[in-house]
Amino acid sequence: MDSPSPPSGSPARGATAHLLVVDDEPVILQILRAVFEDQPYRLTTVGTGNDARRVIEEQGCDILVTDKNLPDVGGLVLLELAKQRDPTTEVIVVTGYGSLETAIQAMELGAYDYVLKPLNNVFEIRRKVERALDRQRIARENARLLVDLKDKNDALQVALDEARELQAELIQSEKLAGIGTLAAGVAHEISSPLFGIMGLAEAILDESEPELTREYAGDIVEYCRNIRDIVVELSGYSRAASGEYQTTVDVAKVAEDAVKLVQRTAPTDGIEVELALTPGAVVQARVNEVQQVFVNLFKNACEAVREHHPDGGGKVRVQVDTEPGAVRASVRDNGTGIPNDKLGIVFDPFYTTKPPGKGTGLGLNVVWRIVTKYRGSVQVESGVGDGTTFRIKLPAAS
Ligand SMILES: Nc1ncnc2c1ncn2[C@@H]1O[C@H](COP(=O)(O)OP(=O)(O)OP(=O)(O)O)[C@@H](O)[C@H]1O
Ligand SMILES: [Mg+2]
Repeated sequence: MDSPSPPSGSPARGATAHLLVVDDEPVILQILRAVFEDQPYRLTTVGTGNDARRVIEEQGCDILVTDKNLPDVGGLVLLELAKQRDPTTEVIVVTGYGSLETAIQAMELGAYDYVLKPLNNVFEIRRKVERALDRQRIARENARLLVDLKDKNDALQVALDEARELQAELIQSEKLAGIGTLAAGVAHEISSPLFGIMGLAEAILDESEPELTREYAGDIVEYCRNIRDIVVELSGYSRAASGEYQTTVDVAKVAEDAVKLVQRTAPTDGIEVELALTPGAVVQARVNEVQQVFVNLFKNACEAVREHHPDGGGKVRVQVDTEPGAVRASVRDNGTGIPNDKLGIVFDPFYTTKPPGKGTGLGLNVVWRIVTKYRGSVQVESGVGDGTTFRIKLPAAS
């Protein structure tokens, strides 16, 4: 019985592989030792299954070359022990001619290869060990890559979870912002008719002429209807897209009303207003919404003109006409104009250059929402100091 030999060999291909050789026939063990001694392995040779088991349990090995038929602990048991300790251990079983079947059984148990006795070609077994080491290196590298991959996967999963959480938070804050925008939009839309009502009510207080009083009261009723429509829409009882509350709207008439509304509620003295309104331009829409479009555009135009021409000379032109299949409208002014780099954001909600309390920055957003809702388009041309033109196109009512 040989006792374990001291570690021998030098690092093999990057690391010193531990090669455990077991055989109870001293001659064979000697041959095997001679085969591997000059190889760059850490070599341990033992002559019994028990010794081999101890080495496996205490140190493990990278390659086990074992006789299958050991009197104490059989080669196949050692194979299983070695694989249990480290599944990447490669095992080569040495067996006699008569035991070819058991050699195959060893392969089934996970042996890498087998060698038949007598050992006629010692180089064959050396090559087999080398190949087993190559396979082991690849298997270990794959296992390392798998662990790496799993780590990366775990990290990705954590990042994904964080992103999902962030997204949920964003959606929540987006919803809140949406509610804020909606509320501000409603306030903005209601404020115009409300100003109209206030102006008319004050006029009634001073009015002694019953006919005019009736007329003002009629207008007040009209504005109240507008407000009701907005509230009804907000409550979800009506949907403009479904056609409810939509009528054939005479755009020229609505534009004229909008101009009058603004003139009644905001200071427009000294501004020369030109109306070029072609009758017969009709769209299918809610009157109130088309009016909102003109109120906002005309109001903005007047404000820009007043700022640019505080002492008079301001002009605003409102035009409505038709082209095949569409109604065109424009509001042109010779006011301040809009800087080029701001043209892309004037329709964004809350974009305003007006002082706090003077503008909410929702007027053009309301215009854009209404026009696009009816499948129309709105464009702006402007130059600082040159004035501004807003052009609208809406599908004509058939
Ligand atoms: N005709 C115009 N000439 C120059 N600038 C304009 C004109 N129309 C809009 N703007 C610019 O676009 C901004 C946004 O207009 P918008 O109507 O959306 O909001 P606002 O007029 O500032 O406030 P609100 O309409 O709520 O009173 C304005 O503050 C102004 O800077
Ligand atoms: Mg405005």
